[in-house]
Amino acid sequence: MRKRYFMPALLAAMALTCSLAFAQTVKVGVINTYTGPLAAAGDQMQRGIDLYMKLHQKDLPPGISIELIKRDDTGPNPEVAKRLAQELITRDKVQLLTGVIWTPNALAIAPLVTEAKVPFIIMNAGTAIITTKSPYIARVSFTLWQSSYPLGSWAAKNGLKNVYTLVSDYGPGIDAEAAFTKAFTDGGGKIAGSVRMPVTAPDFVPFLQRAKDAKPDAVFCFVPAAKAATAFMKAFDDLGLRGAGIKLIGPGDITTDEELPGMGDVAIGTITMHHYSAAGDRPANKAFVAAYKAEYGAKDEPSFLAADSYDGMAAIFHVVIAQHGNIDPDKTMDLLKGWKYDSPRGPIMIDPETRDIVQNEYLRRVEKVNGQLQNTEIETIPMVKDPWKELNKTK
Ligand code: PHB
Repeated sequence: MRKRYFMPALLAAMALTCSLAFAQTVKVGVINTYTGPLAAAGDQMQRGIDLYMKLHQKDLPPGISIELIKRDDTGPNPEVAKRLAQELITRDKVQLLTGVIWTPNALAIAPLVTEAKVPFIIMNAGTAIITTKSPYIARVSFTLWQSSYPLGSWAAKNGLKNVYTLVSDYGPGIDAEAAFTKAFTDGGGKIAGSVRMPVTAPDFVPFLQRAKDAKPDAVFCFVPAAKAATAFMKAFDDLGLRGAGIKLIGPGDITTDEELPGMGDVAIGTITMHHYSAAGDRPANKAFVAAYKAEYGAKDEPSFLAADSYDGMAAIFHVVIAQHGNIDPDKTMDLLKGWKYDSPRGPIMIDPETRDIVQNEYLRRVEKVNGQLQNTEIETIPMVKDPWKELNKTK
């Protein structure tokens, strides 16, 4: 009797276990900026995510799928981002969190992912300190120290004596200013003036007028990528700084690839340091740019935001595939530590010690090639670790 009931029950249990083992949906919460005046950056991020999903869905083992649950933070709004992360974790039960353009939002989410043990793969937010705020954070994007510190050394070695810094008054701007100033003054350069500007929709004209009056060799600028960068470039043109012989330099956020056509010729000659250029001459980048154009239009160039979020999805696929869809938070973090990838930007790695990205930085100049503006890479600094963490290591 017992045997008669036991066998079918056993078979049913085995079938259930097998189907559970083979049909797995990994829920990934994406916090991005889909609406509001800063949504252009969010669009770039989403394009990178969607492109990776489209091209690589086939790489997932049979029965395993990834469900993206998208939420709109509407811009640098930490309270909104925190609420969205809370809901994604407790109500939607996401196993991974990703996205996040804005530093204040990433900082607001950090304590939640620590408490809930939800791995959080940051696709943009670039203030150095973010990764120190939770052991469940890994960053695939960049830090402002990574670009602005080597740029400061380059500026000091390449004939710039007096530089005026103009940055957005929040985490990444303050980091960019500090990193540039340290390397530039260590190399013998002088800061002609330092001014911080409001983050959202500032009128750049009065700030640039003050910079012009100080007669520096160059203006170093950080504003968030996308539309703010174009507005800054236009104001630089309107006030005639280029004509007065003042150079423009900064992290690559200020000459983001997708905005170059809208910036116009005033952008030519701008020197930036960054980890990604759509003009980068690498096989992985050629393939990425071709796939991007096939998807979104031949005239559209991917920006670093698209490239970084594409890589972020590669990291997510890596942890999903390695665990056959059964996401364990600590195993996930172990899989991310030391993860290497042949990215469109060149080789990248997640530093096992800091969970921050290690990548090449490229010195670039905006040039017109075949009638089109591009960030031409002219020098490579290989595999740069976040200098802020290197300089602040506890011995
Ligand atoms: C940030 O908020 O960390 C941020 C936003 C836009 C950028 C860079 C950094 O271009």
